[in-house]
Amino acid sequence: MKQHLITTVNGQHIERDVDPSMRLVDFLRDELLLTGTKIGCKQGECGACTIIMNGTAVLSCILPVMKAMNAEILTIEGLDEDGKLNPIQEEFIKGGAIQCGFCTPGLIMGTKALLDKNPSPTREEVREDLSGHICRCTGYKKIEDSVMKAAERLREESHD
Ligand code: FES
Ligand code: FES
Repeated sequence: MKQHLITTVNGQHIERDVDPSMRLVDFLRDELLLTGTKIGCKQGECGACTIIMNGTAVLSCILPVMKAMNAEILTIEGLDEDGKLNPIQEEFIKGGAIQCGFCTPGLIMGTKALLDKNPSPTREEVREDLSGHICRCTGYKKIEDSVMKAAERLREESHD
């Protein structure tokens, strides 16, 4: 039997009747058409489906949709400001941390959650925090470099 879900996604109030056996990632992609969040393994092992829920990075492929009840959800579609990419997105592009791009939305959301909590992470902290994300293309060095650069930029911008 369907259940009534009330949630907020990228600042928008959402109410839907949903099948409670649905995974959150399928709700985002199939019901809300927010296909920026990717599905890799669907077993909680690759990080492609990472979103931010109530300020924390979570794997949306292993969460039942009703876990989103009354939550604040942020997906990659909610990151730009008035059409301008978030500095994390820009630094990933500049640093060549994107090739096929399949892992990228998850990595960027994981990075955002990390930098919101820890604006000055060490390279080791970045590596450890993002260790659940699998990227088959870039090698992880470019990703780490881009995260470090984005952190620097966000620190500078917060002092402007
Ligand atoms: S699709 Fe969710 S962790 Fe791989
Ligand atoms: S850029 Fe292709 S999997 Fe990461």
